[in-house]
Amino acid sequence: MKIMCVGDVCGENGCNHLRKVLPVFKREHSVDFVIVNGENSYNGKGLTPKTARSIFDSGADVITTGNHAFGRFESYEYYDSCENLIRPANYPKTAPGRGYTVIDMLRYKVCVINMLGTLFLDPLDDPFGMIDGILEQTKDCRIRILDFHAEATSEKRAMGFYLDGRVSAVFGTHTHIPTADETVLPNGTGYITDVGMTGVEDSVLGVKKENAIEMFRTRMPVKFDGADGKCKMDCVVFEIDTKTGLALSAQRFTVR
Ligand SMILES: [Fe+2]
Ligand SMILES: [Fe+2]
Repeated sequence: MKIMCVGDVCGENGCNHLRKVLPVFKREHSVDFVIVNGENSYNGKGLTPKTARSIFDSGADVITTGNHAFGRFESYEYYDSCENLIRPANYPKTAPGRGYTVIDMLRYKVCVINMLGTLFLDPLDDPFGMIDGILEQTKDCRIRILDFHAEATSEKRAMGFYLDGRVSAVFGTHTHIPTADETVLPNGTGYITDVGMTGVEDSVLGVKKENAIEMFRTRMPVKFDGADGKCKMDCVVFEIDTKTGLALSAQRFTVR
């Protein structure tokens, strides 16, 4: 089976581009299951039931998030009620929603896990300490994918190798910059350090480049506006052997 993982969708432009290109891509590449990171789908910070529904309507089976998971208050109830929307598992237990989900696709079940890195990010529970418990709880599910939402390439690669042979794939999100290291690790786990983003290409992480330049020049708070212009969708497709749950290939795409 083919599992597609899509980089952080940024704002309305990102949502609209996803709607335009995802259905066609799925059809052309015979994709069976789609995971989309939606943490920036509302104006770059968080998501709302409306932006989440737009991502589902475009063809996502599961939406993952990250450090912006709780950027919008109106999403909190939706996290509790929607099984296909997850937030990093290493938030405190009091946080709304769930950190992993198992989706029954009839012929097979797919488990999607979300975790936040702690290097240069919020100091949540240790993701390495926590992932073993989640793998134990989900051991009946052969196909398991982790969205590791983290800043540091080192932390993400270490997680990939830590889980090599134990999960189907690990893909990184958060930096919005795709890395060229998509691969199948030695013991059979599909891997990429960062899958990239979905939104305006001529931007700094989806934000107007002028805003970002001003912030770095003045070191003062600056209001961030979503950029306008041509969009792209960065994604990776992992082919998974449903008998072993391990990856056969990893392929990266940018769809303009
Ligand atoms: Fe992001
Ligand atoms: Fe993020």
